[in-house]
Amino acid sequence: MVKPIVAPSILASDFANLECGCHKVINAGADWLHIDVMDGHFVPNITLGQPIVASLRKAVPRVGDTTSPKPKAFFDCHMMVESPERWVADFAKCGADQFTFHYEATEDPLALVKLIRSHNMKAACAIKPGTPVDVLYELGPHLDMALVMTVEPGFGGQKFMIDMMPKVEALRNKFPHMNIQVDGGLGKETIPHAAKAGANVIVAGTSVFTAADTADVISYLKQEVST
Ligand code: DX5
Ligand code: ZN
Repeated sequence: MVKPIVAPSILASDFANLECGCHKVINAGADWLHIDVMDGHFVPNITLGQPIVASLRKAVPRVGDTTSPKPKAFFDCHMMVESPERWVADFAKCGADQFTFHYEATEDPLALVKLIRSHNMKAACAIKPGTPVDVLYELGPHLDMALVMTVEPGFGGQKFMIDMMPKVEALRNKFPHMNIQVDGGLGKETIPHAAKAGANVIVAGTSVFTAADTADVISYLKQEVST
């Protein structure tokens, strides 16, 4: 049985009050922080880069860091960038725990996985809605996580694409113990589809950061995945 994980996307938080937003979702039960890095080339939007991740790492120490009383979290960096190879060393240095690259952005995914691991980060691979799932079959055994995008990458607040669920099902059948992440349009209404298909790592931006009761949404998402 894979572990249910809720990863709020900080893209939906107030960037002028990031520390506060991160502490709020962690204290409300978030397991990971999903950090969306966009370069304006791979996707038509620009978000944040290493200086912000490095500052956030000081505000949110690594899980297991006993030297700080601050809320801790795993940094799940979703790299929507061209030439992801270029950024591996920098993101390791600024405190990323996991580096998720896009299959569409690299020519040699296996070499990239090895590079990420050599920098002591977990390695994950994402596919856009138009990319067939079978590109992950050979790579799967080498990955810590596969990410099936449920919106076109680039913006928060889009509509969940239910037609991506067969990809999640196919991956779950092939890799019963792998972390399978879904990202885009997840909330109380759409989580049943993702949970049924076999996803266990749930990214949620808008639904978590705009909720009146943050802890309620996070525990709802987690519970749907557990049952
Ligand atoms: C989209 C990003 C997502 C997005 C999710 O390119 O990868 O992480 O912020 O946001 P919501 O949950 O609002 O769809
Ligand atoms: Zn994302």
